[in-house]
Amino acid sequence: MTTIISDLSPRTASAVKLNVRKLSPLIGSEVHDVDLKATQSDDTIAAIRALLLERGVIFFPGQHLSPEQHLALAGRFGVVDVPAKPRPTSPLPGISVFDSRDEVYGRVSRWHADLTSSETPQSIAVFQPITLPEVGGDTIWASTEAAYDRLSEPLKKAIEELVAVHALTPIKTSEWGKGNLGFHWAEHPVVRVHPETGRKSLFVSPRYTTEILGLRPHESAALLKLLNEHITQPEHQVRYRWTEGAIAFWDNRNTLHYAVDDYDDGLRIVHRVGILGDRPFGVKR
Ligand SMILES: [Fe+2]
Repeated sequence: MTTIISDLSPRTASAVKLNVRKLSPLIGSEVHDVDLKATQSDDTIAAIRALLLERGVIFFPGQHLSPEQHLALAGRFGVVDVPAKPRPTSPLPGISVFDSRDEVYGRVSRWHADLTSSETPQSIAVFQPITLPEVGGDTIWASTEAAYDRLSEPLKKAIEELVAVHALTPIKTSEWGKGNLGFHWAEHPVVRVHPETGRKSLFVSPRYTTEILGLRPHESAALLKLLNEHITQPEHQVRYRWTEGAIAFWDNRNTLHYAVDDYDDGLRIVHRVGILGDRPFGVKR
């Protein structure tokens, strides 16, 4: 079913009408009839941003942007995060390449938001698959806002002021020393308040969150297991079957994602541009 969304909320009202189709009830929409190769008006960018804030992840199939167009588009949504040490495969500074043949960075089949072990994780990702396997290599997102909303009120109260550690620990031993990852960690609120919408979300993930401060180790482990399993319930998810040249935007502040590693020797190469983010804050800043 196709619906026209023109006014998502008073905060994000926009004059531009996008042709939008929901992909699941709680997260994810596909947008048609927008050519992202063309320079968009400020109103169209505002409408895309409003839709992204509402839906967590949005897709524009059939765009086939050049690296220059990809960077220019992302730059309309904030300041592009340009790594100090870009990888040699990067076609332009600011574009991160993920190639399934890369032992360290190629496949991340664990639920996460990008690099939350940083003090200021990226706010938005703009993503384009370049080469895809014949079948497989989908990505799944989960809405951490929907997950928060659907917790019981007593549990919401119990976790509201908790703080968790997010650490960059290697998934495979080959990560040590190979990818210049460097161990680092940050403390973030378990219940995050979105800086643009004020909505609350659960801000933990299986990939990065190692501990909830102030709890005994077995309490921390049990609570993280509960929250991670709750976030990643199918009801909070959308799964996207990529087509080459599709552009995806996801809000890295209120979603987790999971790159499905089911394509064996198939080749999957994707480009991602990240937008600099703020320091996450909770109910008490
Ligand atoms: Fe990621």
